[in-house]
Amino acid sequence: MKIRLTVNGRRFEREVDAETRLLDLLREDLHLTGTKEGCGEGECGACTVLIDGRPVNSCLVLAPQADGTDVLTIEGLADGDRLHPIQRAFVDAGGVQCGFCTPGFIMSVYALLRDNPEPTDDEVRSAIEGNLCRCTGYAKIVEAVRLAADRMRENS
Ligand code: FES
Ligand code: FES
Repeated sequence: MKIRLTVNGRRFEREVDAETRLLDLLREDLHLTGTKEGCGEGECGACTVLIDGRPVNSCLVLAPQADGTDVLTIEGLADGDRLHPIQRAFVDAGGVQCGFCTPGFIMSVYALLRDNPEPTDDEVRSAIEGNLCRCTGYAKIVEAVRLAADRMRENS
């Protein structure tokens, strides 16, 4: 079936099988490999993207379900060579180790800070509860979110 969707501000029209996952459309067809596959079962959040502004696990979304939507992936955040402030803060605060989970975390945090520019640590933890990290122990990730929020408020 034919679907049309916008990804990172670009419009695409694709012929897909009914069972194609959005994750595979993004990674294999559109070559947006920043979105990762961890569990493939909706448990780890490595595949998080925004659909119409809402964080979702793209491993659980079929491409036809994304027909007509606006998808944002990690590739849509940086401004050319300039990292998005959330990306920069993750690096600066040591919230990135192996980096496999990082794109998913950053997409969840992006949605959080868009709606709540000054979250409490509890609100941060709740926003990232669907994202798993095996490396950092989460403290540095929460610190990164606080740093990003501070910088984004200063610059707004
Ligand atoms: S790969 Fe989608 S939630 Fe783990
Ligand atoms: S940095 Fe390795 S899983 Fe999070």
